Amino acid sequence: MSGDVHVRFCESLRGRFPRATRHPVVTFSNSWDDTIISGYADPKVYVVQTATKVIQRCLLMATDPGDLVLDPTCGSGTTAYVAEQWGRRWITIDTSRVSLALARARIMGARYPYYLLADSLEGQQKEAEITRTLPSTQPTNGNIRHGFVYERVPHITLKSIANNAEIDVIWDRFQEKLEPLREQLNQSLGKNWQEWDIPREADAKWPDATKKLHSDWWEQRIARQKEIDASIAAKAEHEYLYDKPYEDKKKVRVAGPFTVESLSPHRVLTVGADDELIDSVAEAKEGFGQERDFVQMILENLKTAGVQQAHKEDKINFTALTPWPGDLICAEGRFEDAGGEKRAAIFIGPEFGTVSRPDLVAAAREAGDAGFDVLIACAFNYDAHSSEFDKLGRIPVLKARMNADLHMADDLKNTGKGNLFVIFGEPDIDILNVEGGQIQVKVNGVDVFHPNTGEVRSDGAEGIACWFIDTDYNEESFFVRHAYFLGANDPYKALKTTLKAEINEDAWATLNSDTSRPFDKSKTGRIAVKVINHLGDEVMKVFRV
Ligand SMILES: C[S@@+](CC[C@H](N)C(=O)[O-])C[C@H]1O[C@@H](n2cnc3c(N)ncnc32)[C@H](O)[C@@H]1O
Repeated sequence: MSGDVHVRFCESLRGRFPRATRHPVVTFSNSWDDTIISGYADPKVYVVQTATKVIQRCLLMATDPGDLVLDPTCGSGTTAYVAEQWGRRWITIDTSRVSLALARARIMGARYPYYLLADSLEGQQKEAEITRTLPSTQPTNGNIRHGFVYERVPHITLKSIANNAEIDVIWDRFQEKLEPLREQLNQSLGKNWQEWDIPREADAKWPDATKKLHSDWWEQRIARQKEIDASIAAKAEHEYLYDKPYEDKKKVRVAGPFTVESLSPHRVLTVGADDELIDSVAEAKEGFGQERDFVQMILENLKTAGVQQAHKEDKINFTALTPWPGDLICAEGRFEDAGGEKRAAIFIGPEFGTVSRPDLVAAAREAGDAGFDVLIACAFNYDAHSSEFDKLGRIPVLKARMNADLHMADDLKNTGKGNLFVIFGEPDIDILNVEGGQIQVKVNGVDVFHPNTGEVRSDGAEGIACWFIDTDYNEESFFVRHAYFLGANDPYKALKTTLKAEINEDAWATLNSDTSRPFDKSKTGRIAVKVINHLGDEVMKVFRV
């Protein structure tokens, strides 16, 4: 693109110029230096957050209310936040869970003005008031696609004034008040002033009664001019200010319902030069070149960071981590528990791809054969079926999820501080049959491996931040049909504070629960339950019902 972007879009500059010199709008050029200031005005939650004013201007230029806006690099969700404010639908995507968590919190806690819809009774009334006409009698449906009622700037021409019959009506109405005042003023001063002879200021020597007549006359004279100006503006052709809809100050808006979806991790198979399938897990074990560098880098981080669990005291700290020449097992880790030293077999998943259940079974078998006490798998993603697999014979299988930051490990300081390897235990879930053939889901907690005793015990539900059910899971994408929030602190506090309003306690109680509302059995024969902990890690379990 080159040259000037010509934009038929104007922004109101009301209040920025004194009335005499004021031109109420400017046409934008392609240099938007006025957006810089507002960037600092936005509270910054993300290091690369875009200023709302920039996105707002693009959005208002390029879309209409009801349109769908896509931002594939969500960040802190500025596009979605602005789209929500201006009645546009939106989809936003990011690879970072941090960014999605920030965007989710930002939109959930947002408070927006309520703009008058053109397709509403209030909107029709406002439109009539602005154009000084009778309100429309069209039935209204609240359809946002008809837009809002916007402020506008008139294009005043001599023609529009000449054609405005209302001016004469206003003039005649005011003459009835102005003329008697002028006559009385002339009488008291012994003058024969025409309207244009009457001075703006009264003479200090005039009697009080004369001063009063003079000020009354001017009051009416100014009121007449104002009304004529308003009539000229209302009847002239005009341009809408799409960034200035009229607000209903008595109403406050919050974001409409939205869902946060994550792709189910799918195993990725790559095709080689001769169309042969390349299994990334099998490739990894060959230990050459880049793959080996990746495994090496992961092991270095694992040694420093250890493996985190829901509770700090359950963290696994390695006293030693040494390479192991296995097929799938690539290292041996040693850690202490109450019974003395334990040997863990370490399995590292692929740099790009998902670990599946058969990979885990093979690694656990290898660990058992080599006399290890436990298998610790480290991977970016596990497929849905591997979540059910937590033990092979005497070997517990611990699935640590690697933080996506490890993709950028070269730029990462290896301080051992980040949550780089986190085990999220199996959620302990009961499916309850209720009357009428419906079912309920109850989450009892999450299984946690206690390295001190080597046991796996179910933890209470307090380790769960929120959980969702797809009551009709199609095995492809998880659709949040039920959502529950278990946070120890009131998770809706931020929203309550922003809204400055109380939330219906009964409605809240149904959401703040470890037991779902009853629902009909799934048509697909499957339901999926997704559980998210306070670190933002999630695990999904699928059940046949
Ligand atoms: C400059 S930030 C966007 C900032 C955003 N406009 C805001 O106001 O916060 C770019 C975002 O794109 C994300 N990203 C980078 N590569 C991506 C990809 N391939 N797919 C989706 N998101 C990606 C990054 O995680 C980052 O959050």
